[in-house]
Amino acid sequence: MIIAVDGPAASGKGTIARALASRYGLPHLDTGKLYRATGLAVRLSGGDPGDVAAATHAALHLDPELLDDPDLMSSDNAQGASIVSAHPPVRAALLERQRVFAGQPGGAVLDGRDIGTVIAPHATAKLFVTATPLVRAQRRHRELAAKGDSRDLAAVLADIEARDARDSGRSTAPLRQADDAALLDTSELGIDAAVQRAIALVEQAIAQAHSLDGQQQV
Ligand code: C5P
Repeated sequence: MIIAVDGPAASGKGTIARALASRYGLPHLDTGKLYRATGLAVRLSGGDPGDVAAATHAALHLDPELLDDPDLMSSDNAQGASIVSAHPPVRAALLERQRVFAGQPGGAVLDGRDIGTVIAPHATAKLFVTATPLVRAQRRHRELAAKGDSRDLAAVLADIEARDARDSGRSTAPLRQADDAALLDTSELGIDAAVQRAIALVEQAIAQAHSLDGQQQV
């Protein structure tokens, strides 16, 4: 069983993906971390995330230790991740490890931007998790404030909108809802309600997959 969870920044997709992984006993991959580690590697080597060759080199030689770096989840690094992720060779370099993770026996939950469209187009269940830009910025602002980051709400909203535009506007694997993904708008939902709704949508997708299997066997 493969569960694909896509959506823009701070939509709640990470929290939902982790909850689904725990509910169904599946391993979980936050694919954003691969792009964040790539962007961080470029920055640490003094390079420019806009430089395709430097970013591709970093993606091909990804240092697993960077996945635990304290700077991985920072706002500055998110912008770098979004810049490197628009380079087609970077996406190609990271594709195989995501497909291998998705294809492991028993299945997996992956969250990102192109899981349902590119990485696992045949996923059992696909969710596209979203919320209004303002709600997402308010969530991210609260998270950053809790970590002692004093950035104001307007700056956080501008960062989120810049990232949305870059992620949706790139030519390779842009952020978009797969045709067969269920839409989950979390703008007015708390965490528990959003997770319950996600579980209900996955259950529907599983029931549909079983009924298709049954029809094929007849
Ligand atoms: O999910 P997260 O916000 O950590 O992702 C950081 C950046 O990595 C995104 O803004 C996006 O540009 C990129 N990304 C991507 N494809 C994915 C996951 C993340 O392009 N599957």
